[in-house]
Order: sequence, then C-alpha cells, then structure tokens
Amino acid sequence: MQEQFENEMNLEFISKSANEAFARITVAAFASQLDPTIEELADIKTAVSEAVTNCIIHAYENKVGIVKIHAKIHKSEIIIEITDNGKGIENIEMAKEPLYTTKPDLERSGMGFTIMESFMDSVKIESIVGIGTKVTMLKKIKEQEINQQEFKQMTSMP
Ligand SMILES: Nc1ncnc2c1ncn2[C@@H]1O[C@H](COP(=O)(O)OP(=O)(O)OP(=O)(O)O)[C@@H](O)[C@H]1O
Ligand SMILES: [Mg+2]
Repeated sequence: MQEQFENEMNLEFISKSANEAFARITVAAFASQLDPTIEELADIKTAVSEAVTNCIIHAYENKVGIVKIHAKIHKSEIIIEITDNGKGIENIEMAKEPLYTTKPDLERSGMGFTIMESFMDSVKIESIVGIGTKVTMLKKIKEQEINQQEFKQMTSMP
C-alpha cells in the first residue's frame, strides 16, 4: 500500500482550558519538522488555539468532553483536523461571519473563524447539531531561501 502522507499524529485530551496551550504547543512541535518560519509557526499556533477554544467553550460548554486532533504532513503542507462531539453548529455560514458570536456575554468577539481563515491557507467546517464539529485547516509552509542546515554546510570549514 502506498502511503499518502509522510507523517501523521493523533492527540486526544479532555476539554479543559489548561489543555489549550498543550494542544497548540504540541501541534507546533509536530509542524516544526517542515522547517517553518517563526511567523508560520505562530499562525498555526493561533489557529489551533482558536479551534480548540471553540471546542471547550461552545461545543461542550460546561461539560467535559473529548477533543481530538489529527495532523498530517504531505510534502510542504500540514493538514490539521480538530474534532469534538459537542453540540454542533446550526448555521455554519453565519458562524463564519466576522463578529458573529452566540456568547457575547462571555466577552467573545466572534473572530475565531475569521482568524483561522486569515492565518491558514484553507479552513473547512463540518458540523451536525447534536453530533459534533470538525474543523480542517491546511497551511502550506513556504520554501525558504536557505535553511539552517544548508547555512551550516555552506559556512562550515572544509
Ligand atoms: N466547536 C464548536 N461547537 C459548537 N459551536 C461552535 C464551535 N465553534 C464555533 N461555534 C459557534 O460559532 C460561533 C463563532 O465562532 P468564532 O470562534 O468565530 O467566535 P467566538 O468563539 O464566539 O468568539 P471568539 O473566537 O472571538 O472568542 C460561536 O459563537 C459558536 O456559536
Ligand atoms: Mg472562538
């Protein structure tokens, strides 16, 4: 069988806000093998943080549930799927609108999906009310002029 992805990882944790940092740092560590710039890594961290926070705050509200992350690397791209089995989204198009939030009382600004869309190359939202939500994000890591290893080789003494 031919492998479609060069590398993959799965992460599963309970919907506690303490795990938001754990998730974003773990995905960033996995993504770092693509040799991203600090800015690209920061974009991935922010997008993961927004998606995971949504699972904790909206999907499960005050209940404890499971958040799953599946990340895969293919060539210079990373695909990150973040899934919950929470309450689901009734109207995805509306949820994607900037400033749309169902929790204005909790100081939410309704910018999570807008941030994910601006920091990643593509974002897909699938949701079924009462079943859960899956957010799939893709980021292409740009080829850098000279990477660290090449720099070392080029500048090392013969
Ligand atoms: N995983 C999810 N499960 C259920 N509903 C969700 C989920 N993610 C988002 N939503 C719904 O989509 C709306 C918009 O999400 P978005 O992240 O853009 O804004 P927000 O979370 O309300 O505010 P902010 O992200 O700026 O704090 C949410 O208010 C919520 O109603
Ligand atoms: Mg949000």
